[in-house]
Amino acid sequence: MLKKLSIIAFAALSLSAGGAMAAGGAGHIHDVDFSFEGPFGKFDQNQLQRGLQVYTEVCSACHGMRYVPLRTLADEGGPHLPEDQVRAYAAQFDIYDPELDDDRPRKPTDYFPESGLESAPDLSLMAKARAGFHGPYGTGINQLVKGMGGPEYIASILTGYTGEEKEEAGTTFYENTAFPGGWIAMAPPLYGEDVEYADGHSNSLHHEAEDVSAFLMWAAEPKMMARKQAGLTGVLFLVVLSTLLYLTNKKLWAPVKGKKLDL
Ligand code: HEC
Repeated sequence: MLKKLSIIAFAALSLSAGGAMAAGGAGHIHDVDFSFEGPFGKFDQNQLQRGLQVYTEVCSACHGMRYVPLRTLADEGGPHLPEDQVRAYAAQFDIYDPELDDDRPRKPTDYFPESGLESAPDLSLMAKARAGFHGPYGTGINQLVKGMGGPEYIASILTGYTGEEKEEAGTTFYENTAFPGGWIAMAPPLYGEDVEYADGHSNSLHHEAEDVSAFLMWAAEPKMMARKQAGLTGVLFLVVLSTLLYLTNKKLWAPVKGKKLDL
């Protein structure tokens, strides 16, 4: 009942904001059951590490993540790499240091490198910048049921290539069922078996796509688990407080309402 009511309230709300939400929902996005969904959802540490591998070996050839500090790779609740691995990971990438007036290897306190290809957008916040679900009819109800769909959008892009290409004004476009407009300027980055996972997990196309999408969700919202926990604590607190207030109210008004209570 409560859920129904809140859906109706939400529908009314989003109808008023409908115009903005309806825009751009052209592509086909398939729902994925990510481990971090729902009020008790958690990032899957192994999946984040696999996603980091896909990002590093494939995506980082063109894309960057200039807002993500390398040290966060050691965070609990994130990929949780050991400190020495984070140092070694960071040291693969050089950065210009104005104090040395020279390049030096990055340290964990530095950030991921920026995009190497100018036309490739930075992926730091991409999983939160895109919504996979808008409907039905721009009401946004699907977002309530399935989540915003940022990581689903990325996974759908990576698996949505039809194989068709066209050239326009010197740029090659690739047909993609998830990309709004249907044609994207990114060549298919994944085909399946592009990386070799150390944990022996399947490296088929849709697994690689889901792993890197989960990783990008973590990059965009590394504190998601702490946020959910705080929310849950808040709800529990309010339930207890409401119960106490209800009982207090009942007791205070009992004499006035003339009920015989043993006070
Ligand atoms: C060869 C270079 C290249 C590689 C490798 C590459 N991309 Fe891209 N990517 C691009 C370019 C260029 C665009 C801009 C496409 C456009 O706007 O039409 C893009 C756009 C994107 C977008 C944004 C789509 C949108 O809604 O604007 C996402 C998400 C993305 N790439 C994810 C990835 C992921 C994940 C990987 C690794 C599996 C990857 N890319 C590998 C070049 C690349």
